[in-house]
Amino acid sequence: MLKTLKWLDGLSHGKGAVSTEWPLPARIVIVCFLFAVGLGFVSALVNLHFQEAGPGNLLPDATDVVRAYHGASGKSQLERLLTEPESLPFNGSGSMRAAFTEKKGGGLNAEMKAVAEEKAFDLSNPSEAAHAKSLVLKERNGERLALLAWIRSGAPETTYDEVGFELKGDLAKLPISKEYLVNGEAGTVKVHLQAIIHDRCCRCHSHGVGGSASRYSLETFENLKVYLGVDSHQGKSLEHLALTTHIHLLAFSILYGLTGILFSLTGWPTWIRILLAPGALIFSVMDISFWWLARLEPPYGPMFAQLIMVSGGLVGLALGAQIVLGSFGLFRWRGKIVIAAIMAIGTLMGLGAKLWVVDPYLAKITHVALKTEE
Ligand code: HEC
Repeated sequence: MLKTLKWLDGLSHGKGAVSTEWPLPARIVIVCFLFAVGLGFVSALVNLHFQEAGPGNLLPDATDVVRAYHGASGKSQLERLLTEPESLPFNGSGSMRAAFTEKKGGGLNAEMKAVAEEKAFDLSNPSEAAHAKSLVLKERNGERLALLAWIRSGAPETTYDEVGFELKGDLAKLPISKEYLVNGEAGTVKVHLQAIIHDRCCRCHSHGVGGSASRYSLETFENLKVYLGVDSHQGKSLEHLALTTHIHLLAFSILYGLTGILFSLTGWPTWIRILLAPGALIFSVMDISFWWLARLEPPYGPMFAQLIMVSGGLVGLALGAQIVLGSFGLFRWRGKIVIAAIMAIGTLMGLGAKLWVVDPYLAKITHVALKTEE
């Protein structure tokens, strides 16, 4: 293989450049750069934890990646976001259920006042205030269930606005704030779903309010429709994938290109450099193509979703090897000892942080999640 490559290449034999002889300042900058990239990778893992890991998981497991990249079959993204437990990450691949609770639903005060007025509660009395609060939360949950009933009935556009969506049978008994009821004929209960979406979601999902969610407006039925498709298994919306794909490809090709080129110029044996130097680049392109392939129908989609863990792991391994071997390759033995010492201290600090900060935190999150889910 190596011989074939050299033969194809013709002249150059790719002898290791004497990277230990580069100017010392340059080598110091390169080592700092490599370490900074390493820290960057760790912080990307922290981000991954918050974006995609289920409660109590340090990193996404197989179920988490399938949910995030493939989606739950037979459900639209909107239905999934309104039914998944609120302990999942608060984003498009986790759950938006918390928009109906205290967690992300904004203050309850105005609604509690309305309930107190209606039922003649005294909010300065703690037990009556608690009662009012539980009624408000029940109403908000009623609104969520009404929305789900509409989605499951095929999400007809004609009943989305002030015409009202009729709640039939048991659904008619859902506790829902009067504010969202449409005065229809006697004996029918109709809800104004657009008003509910407006109040619960558009605080964040509206162009111009700022924040990442403002990119995904939910002001109109057309906006909402994007998330109502059930034919494709949408873990992430196409908008989201398109955005993250081009950002990732452009940024990482520069980053991994640099780490790869630096590693390729060190004095390690040619075959190691040929295998490892382009590794992070190749694996990250593979990773991104799996994001898209995860949208295929089962069984292929979920399979590719799970392969994201493999390709992601390979990117990490290749980059880690480039950083470690690359830094060692820049120095003679005294310098190598210094590098080894810095790495040992960094690893010890990382282990300490995991034992004393991360693990107790994860245990706490799992505990809270188990307590709040019904
Ligand atoms: C407190 C702010 C907030 C509220 C309230 C909120 N969301 Fe979100 N939503 C977010 C954030 C943040 C994201 C992740 C955006 C990103 O990926 O950059 C998100 C993502 C989404 C996405 C995926 C967008 C995409 O294309 O990737 C949908 C769909 C969504 N929310 C629906 C809702 C619905 C329905 C409601 C109301 C029940 C709601 N959200 C309420 C903040 C909010």
